Amino acid sequence: MSKLNQKKSNLISDKVSILKGLKNIRQKRIDSKYFYDEEGSILFEKITNLKEYYQTRTEMKILCQNKIDINKNSPMSASVIEFGSGSNKKIKKFISFLNAPSEYIPIDISEKYLYDKSKEFSKFFPKIKVLPICSDFQDISTIKKKLDNRKNLIGFFPGSTIGNISPYEAKKLLIKFSLLLGSQNKLLVGIDLIKKKNILEKAYNDDQGITERFNKNLLVRLNKEFNASINPKDFKHLAFFNSRKSRIEMHLKSKIKQHINILNETIILKEGETIHTENSYKYTIKNFSKLSEQSNFEILNVFTDIDNLFALFFLRVK
Ligand code: AVJ
Repeated sequence: MSKLNQKKSNLISDKVSILKGLKNIRQKRIDSKYFYDEEGSILFEKITNLKEYYQTRTEMKILCQNKIDINKNSPMSASVIEFGSGSNKKIKKFISFLNAPSEYIPIDISEKYLYDKSKEFSKFFPKIKVLPICSDFQDISTIKKKLDNRKNLIGFFPGSTIGNISPYEAKKLLIKFSLLLGSQNKLLVGIDLIKKKNILEKAYNDDQGITERFNKNLLVRLNKEFNASINPKDFKHLAFFNSRKSRIEMHLKSKIKQHINILNETIILKEGETIHTENSYKYTIKNFSKLSEQSNFEILNVFTDIDNLFALFFLRVK
């Protein structure tokens, strides 16, 4: 496995984008992709094991219950490309359902985590080639260059990662994925479904405060990487369901009026003002069906659990 595949994280443009978000007059924000440095990736893996976070175990269960249909619709010796690979628990299951898969292509922005997990995967599946790509999975041109003209691609996009972007952006992303994968190729996408507000909110407000640490890790990162002067204790973790927009919103709410120094700039926060750090959109099966059909895909299967907590959409590029 060569390190040549890593994309050097583009620190300058990241700095510009983070500062721009923090200077927004109407609502300060930081893109949720910045959660995932090494510490953030580890914290997220902890989240996936929490009792309140029903998503991961439900998705695993749905995956296992539908291995026959997944197998039936998968090409021989596929190259499996995973968008935002994170931990490799799900891919190990998924890839074991396929017919002699030849290659695994994980894409993730968390560099060390990506290479560690890739090595671990190789030990587990010595016959499958691994080609890790260190990149934002939205950066399609970077990914396309590494793929040259591979056939038999199958996309894996679990975890409801697609919920981090708006339905409008999700459509644009799916269209990009469809072009990357090519006509007739498949994509398996995980979607978190709309459900009772208290179940949703509990999943983002766990008793152990792991989600709070995950959220505040952004502040720790600003201190470490951008020399900021933030005391994470001056912020409160906030996560609630915005039913009008059908999304969980996470914020960091300033407990006090404060000035933050970051990269020779000063950001002023009022008492009670928030930094919006994440959206996690929830769908109905109907809504997401419509969205995928408007994005150059047709639906092969919709797999779900008996409680309708989560869904896996098995899609084929038109
Ligand atoms: C990785 C985007 C699927 O939205 O549930 C978990 C991230 N944030 N707890 C989600 C997350 C807080 C997660 N996704």
